Amino acid sequence: MPRKLLIKNIGKLLQVRNSSKPLCGEELNEVPFLANAWLAADDGKIADFGTMEDFPGISDWNGLEVMDAGGRVLMPAFVDCHTHIVFAGSRQDEFVMRLKGKTYEEIAAAGGGILNSALKLRAASEEELLEGASLRLKQMMAHGTGAVEIKSGYGLDLNSELKMLRVIRRLREKFPIPVKATFLGAHAVPPEYKGNKDGYVEHLIKEMIPAVAAENLADFIDVFCEQGYFSKTDTEKILEAGLRHGLRPKVHAEQLSHSGGIETGVRLGAISVDHLEYASEHDINLLKNSHTIPVLLPGAQFFLGLKNPPVAEMIRSGLPLAIGSDFNPGSCPSGNMGLMMALGCIMYKLSPEAAFNACTVNAAHAMGVEKECGAIFHGARANLLMLKSGYDYPSFAYHFGMEIIENTIFSG
Ligand code: NIG
Ligand code: FE
Repeated sequence: MPRKLLIKNIGKLLQVRNSSKPLCGEELNEVPFLANAWLAADDGKIADFGTMEDFPGISDWNGLEVMDAGGRVLMPAFVDCHTHIVFAGSRQDEFVMRLKGKTYEEIAAAGGGILNSALKLRAASEEELLEGASLRLKQMMAHGTGAVEIKSGYGLDLNSELKMLRVIRRLREKFPIPVKATFLGAHAVPPEYKGNKDGYVEHLIKEMIPAVAAENLADFIDVFCEQGYFSKTDTEKILEAGLRHGLRPKVHAEQLSHSGGIETGVRLGAISVDHLEYASEHDINLLKNSHTIPVLLPGAQFFLGLKNPPVAEMIRSGLPLAIGSDFNPGSCPSGNMGLMMALGCIMYKLSPEAAFNACTVNAAHAMGVEKECGAIFHGARANLLMLKSGYDYPSFAYHFGMEIIENTIFSG
């Protein structure tokens, strides 16, 4: 991106907002915009914008690039608040096994699943992992992602987890979009601790969390709170240890069963709780009285054929829903946020406005980048998408999976 950029003749400048609070209830159904607009960016930040009628003209042409949008729609880039894009190899064979009748749980119990990814990741070098994750991040950005949260959790031993987190740090240095790192050592019990989950939890708390914090490698800590993985009590202990080291909690909660992840996350002030297929009415009430963002991952739900989370009840209760991709090799091998928005509309019957807000403003809150991403405001990162002529945000759902982005603009 040039140092100074002016975009003129924008048909609609979407998601123009001053305040950066999470959107809930009726607010979810509004996407504020300026018609016939211009926008100026300076040094990667949005410097100013307005309507063409009030366009002040150009006083300083020095280093300025001018772009004519020709009536196209301009929007803030998507925010992907939940991914696992640092991984080695593929699990396409497991997908084929599922197509032939095996379940995700059966495959995991037979040594597939997360543990399969862990074996592959341990054998890969930092350079190889960086190369694979970079390729995926480029693909995601080409599909409109302009900020990303990335989890560890396929290492499951100290050195391999640190290796993953260092790759995430290098992605942050290499790419012109905000990257947040989450330590997910509690993704599964590794083979060395088979039958000794408590030993692994202790190792996580005493060795791994302090080492991650000492190198300042993570922003958040996450736990897969699920039958066969980590219980509610384990989750509590691990998140509390993370908090003592300055890591704010996130939780993989109520994905395959009701395991108490939401209750624990809310009690410990989690920034988000994610998945939520089995969320109960009680959970919804707890979320209502909290600052925790409920994140839906329709890609993983679709790919695994799980039931819908109670989305209508969540909306009725005024929860600030967010959507992420969950891009990972096992349960969602796609990081296309436009497609996730489409799934939100088609599977959850979200309005295009609610799905769009869930993938932008609310997703930014779910990963702590709301002061720079997710909306058009003065000082925001100029991470922008220009749509092809004739398309608008509902087109992401209507033309699901199609390429409707003409241009991506990133601030670096
Ligand atoms: O978010 N639910 C747990 N973890 C990932 C899946 C991980 C895997 O299968 O590799 C998820 O869906
Ligand atoms: Fe996940």
